Amino acid sequence: MNEFTKKILKLKEEKNAVILAHYYQRPEIQEIADYVGDSFYLSKIAKECKETTVIFCGVRFMAESAKILSPNKTIILPALDAGCPMADMAEENAVKELKAKHPKAAVVCYINSSTEVKALCDVIVTSSNAEKIISNIPNEEILFLPDKNLGEYLSEKFTDKKFILWPGFCITHRKVNKTLLEDFKKTLPEAKILSHPECEKEIRDLSDFIGSTGEIISYAKNDPCESFIIVTEQGVFHKLQKDNPNKKFYSPGATMTCMNMKKTTLEDVYESLQSSKNEIYLDEEIRLKALASLEAMHKLAR
Ligand code: 13P
Ligand code: SF4
Repeated sequence: MNEFTKKILKLKEEKNAVILAHYYQRPEIQEIADYVGDSFYLSKIAKECKETTVIFCGVRFMAESAKILSPNKTIILPALDAGCPMADMAEENAVKELKAKHPKAAVVCYINSSTEVKALCDVIVTSSNAEKIISNIPNEEILFLPDKNLGEYLSEKFTDKKFILWPGFCITHRKVNKTLLEDFKKTLPEAKILSHPECEKEIRDLSDFIGSTGEIISYAKNDPCESFIIVTEQGVFHKLQKDNPNKKFYSPGATMTCMNMKKTTLEDVYESLQSSKNEIYLDEEIRLKALASLEAMHKLAR
C-alpha cells in the first residue's frame, strides 16, 4: 500500500471525512475514494452523506456544487486550481445579456458552470438527467449553456422546442474527430462506439450509445458486446476494465486526457485532509440563488 494511502485512510476516520472521486480521476484516487461516480451521482452523495467533511476529487464546479447544497459541511478541493475550461466559457455578464434577449426562455445550465452563472439560471442539469429535466419544462424556448454539444444533442430530442445554444465546448472531447474515429472503427468493426454528449455531432452520429460517464459504464457492463470504442476522458477505463475483465476497451487513436481532472494526486488528498486547506467558500447571496437552480435539478430529476 502506498505511504499516502495508509495515512489518508487513518486521517479520514479521525476527521469524519468522506472522499468522492469523479470517473476521470487518476486510478489511485478512484481506488481510495468512498464513492466514485458521474457529476449527478456525486452531487447527490455530497448532499446526503452524514460526514461533515467532503474531500472532492474532481474539478472546481463539482466542489462548488457540493458547497451550494451543503453550506454547513467543509468541502475541500485537493487541487484548488483544477478548473473546467468549458465552465469558464460562460461569463456572468454575457449570460445576463443573452437572458435579457430571450425573456420567455427557460435558462437551463449544465452543471459544468460557475456558481455565479448557476445563480442566473432556472435549473441545472447534468448529462445523465438533462433529458428528463427538459421533458418537465413547459417553456417552448430553452436557453442552454455553456455546452453547445450537449445542448444540440438535447435539441435533436425535443424538436418541438426552440433551443438557443451558448457556444461553449469541452477541449478534451474535441481531441477525436470523425476521420480518426471512422478509421479506428474500420480496424474493429465488431466494436460498439460509446460516447459522451460533450462530443461533437459528427462523433455522436457515429455512436451506438451516448451517455454520461456513469451511463457509459453501465451500458458496457450490461451489453453483450465484448469490445467497445470509448469516446470520453480516459479515466473511465479504470472502472470499465475493473468491472469487465473479459471485455476489451479501446481509445480511438487520441489520448483524451483532461489535464484539470488529472491534477489531483494522493499527496494532495493527504495534505488537504491533514491541514483542512483548499476549502471552498462562497458568497452567501450568490450561493442561495445558485441553490434554487440546483434544488430544481434534484426535484425535476426525481
Ligand atoms: P459526467 O456528468 O458524465 O460525469 O460528466 C462530467 C464532465 O465533466 C464530462 O466532461
Ligand atoms: Fe471540463 Fe471537459 Fe474536463 Fe469535463 S473533461 S472537466 S468538461 S474540461
